[in-house]
Amino acid sequence: MKFSKLTISIAAIAAIFTVGCSTAAKTVSEESLGLRKTDLYSESNTTGDKTQYSKTVAGTSKKIERAFENAPPMVPHDTEGMLPITIDNNQCKTCHVDSAPYDKTIPEVPKSHFTDYRPMTTLANDGRIEKEGKAVDNTSDLKTTSKSLTTLAGSRFNCSQCHAPQSEGNNVPQNVFKAEFRGTGLNTKSNLVDNINEGVK
Ligand code: HEC
Ligand code: HEC
Repeated sequence: MKFSKLTISIAAIAAIFTVGCSTAAKTVSEESLGLRKTDLYSESNTTGDKTQYSKTVAGTSKKIERAFENAPPMVPHDTEGMLPITIDNNQCKTCHVDSAPYDKTIPEVPKSHFTDYRPMTTLANDGRIEKEGKAVDNTSDLKTTSKSLTTLAGSRFNCSQCHAPQSEGNNVPQNVFKAEFRGTGLNTKSNLVDNINEGVK
C-alpha cells in the first residue's frame, strides 16, 4: 500500500486530535480544587473553622509549649471579660505583674518586660534628632540600649498585642513546623533578656 504525503499528515493530525481530546475529557471537579473542598462558585455552604478559645479559667489551665525559642507564650486560659485592655483595667497586669511575686502559681512576666529597649529620642532646638543625648544623622542609626526598670515597661502594657489565646481548630494544611530549642527547658520558659543582642553586636 502506498501512502501519499497528504494521507500521512491527515493521520498525524487525527492522532494529535485524539490525544488532545482524551486529555480534555479528564476533568477536575470544582470541589477537588483548592483546600476547602467545596464548590468554588458558592459561598453559602462554605464556612471557616469555628474559633474555639479555651474556656478553662486562669489557674486551672495547662501551659502551651512555645512555638520557638523566646516566642511570646500563648495564653492557655480563658480571657473572657479581660479584653480589651484599657488604661484603667488591665487584669493581665493585676495577676501577672502585681500578684505573681506573691502567688507562685501565676507565671510572672520575664525581666524583658521590666526593661526599656527604646533609646531616648529627642528633637534638639536646631531640628536635629538626638538619641541618648547624642545627635544622629539618620534616625534609624542602630542604637541598642537597655535600661532596667522597676515598673512594667510601657511598651509591654498591651499584653494581647503579643500574647494571643490559642484556638482549637482543624487546620488545613497541617503545620509541621518543628522548632529547635538550643537548651533544655526553653520550650516552657524564656531568657530573652540574656540574649536579645545576639546577632546585633
Ligand atoms: C486571675 C489571674 C490571671 C489573669 C487575670 C490572667 N492570667 Fe494569665 N495566667 C494565670 C495563671 C495562673 C497561669 C498559669 C496557667 C494556669 O494555671 O491556668 C497563666 C498563664 C498565662 C500565660 C502562659 C505563660 C507561659 O509561660 O506559658 C500567658 C502568656 C498569660 N497567662 C497571659 C495572660 C494575659 C495576656 C492576660 C490578660 C488577657 C492574662 N494572662 C490574665 C493567671 C492569670
Ligand atoms: C511586645 C510584645 C509583648 C508584650 C506587649 C507583652 N509580652 Fe509577655 N512576652 C513576650 C515575649 C517575646 C516573651 C518571651 C521572651 C522573653 O521576653 O523572655 C514573653 C514572655 C511572657 C511570659 C512568660 C514568662 C517566663 O518566664 O517564661 C509571661 C507570663 C508574659 N510574657 C506575660 C505578659 C503580660 C501579662 C503582658 C502584659 C502586661 C505581656 N506579657 C506583654 C512579648 C510580649
